[in-house]
Amino acid sequence: MTKVLVSGGCGYIGSHTIVDLIDNGFEVVSVDNYLNSDKNVLDGIEAITGKRVNNYDVDLTDLEGTRDIFRENEDIAGIIHFAALKSVNESVSKPLEYFKNNLNSLLNLLQCVKDYDVKHFIFSSSCSVYGNADELPVTETTPWAEAESPYARTKQMGENILKDFSHANPSTNIVVLRYFNPAGAHESALIGEAPIVVASNLVPVITETAIGKRDEMKVFGDDYETRDGSCIRDYIHVMDLANAHTKSMEYAVESRNASNYEIFNLGIGEGVTVLEAIHAFEKVTGKQLNYKIAGRREGDVIAIYANNQNAAQKLGWQPSRNIEDIMKTAWSWELRRTAVHS
Ligand code: NAD
Ligand code: WQD
Repeated sequence: MTKVLVSGGCGYIGSHTIVDLIDNGFEVVSVDNYLNSDKNVLDGIEAITGKRVNNYDVDLTDLEGTRDIFRENEDIAGIIHFAALKSVNESVSKPLEYFKNNLNSLLNLLQCVKDYDVKHFIFSSSCSVYGNADELPVTETTPWAEAESPYARTKQMGENILKDFSHANPSTNIVVLRYFNPAGAHESALIGEAPIVVASNLVPVITETAIGKRDEMKVFGDDYETRDGSCIRDYIHVMDLANAHTKSMEYAVESRNASNYEIFNLGIGEGVTVLEAIHAFEKVTGKQLNYKIAGRREGDVIAIYANNQNAAQKLGWQPSRNIEDIMKTAWSWELRRTAVHS
């Protein structure tokens, strides 16, 4: 069995990816210091897969603590690096925390890749590296615009660090995955998005409004030049996203990569407006959402969606779920999580 270290394995995308890796025959260890997660997620993973994953409660900005994981697990073949702070808003007021956490974690893991001869490294990047892109859909070669936030800059810097590392370390395969808007939950509703910080992303805001945790929600702008005036995004179901990591690891392990530094956009390749997303939620749940049109949110890009052909052709990855599947699973997860906590 190929052993994979998942950093941020108790977080949203990391936990779903662990499930997909186990389902596909990988052995997994996790490192997560619960900065934005809860150890209960390990129970959810076990209930789905029947396997108890060992999580190291280590801060990746601590190099010695990070090294210990590799000393105990000399057979780690690959790393999937999710661990990062990810709130765009928070990063604007706390840029140093974002640079320290996200960059030092990456640098420490890369030091271990070098020292312990790890062959494969997959990095969580983001469509936010493109900023306000001039062309749609965006391809992996669409030039980056100025980063819209310190968070986005940590992703641009992370990619640049990895590119330089790949030149100096030709025997390590680096795969950079640029996620568009991840949403939804595992179909079992045993795991899902459960951040410690207050959610500000569209789908959790919708489900929290529908269940009554919020009185109402705002649609940030209906006067954009789009088909209904609201912003367009590419919402990708978290289980489709999870599977792209498994496929990327298989791609690297089987040496199917043409270069040791490759980049893939991960989106469904279609744009959905905010109002369409709300209507999809209302359709699949039969609930009326209490929303009102508000002013534009500062820093929002008008429209962004992916060209995902590179991932389709090279990784053999195809997302199979749409916005309705996202809303169905996000809602089941909201119902279950609220029932457990009440
Ligand atoms: P998340 O916050 O749910 O998960 C990240 C996990 O990393 C958390 O469990 C947190 O406790 C852990 N972590 C953070 N810093 C750590 C440290 N120093 N040491 C150990 N553990 C640490 O976030 P997510 O949504 O699962 O995102 C995963 C990755 O994907 C991140 O790198 C994020 O930037 C990226 N990404 C997320 C989105 C999104 O919308 N969710 C979109 C694009 C990219
Ligand atoms: C989506 C759309 C909002 C909340 C962020 C990060 C990006 C990436 C993905 C990490 C926008 C609208 C939202 C609400 C609304 N993350 N909206 N009312 O901004 O596309 O991207 O997550 O890498 O870097 O910036 O996602 O879910 O916040 O917003 O109308 O209460 O929903 O204006 O058009 P965003 P989002």
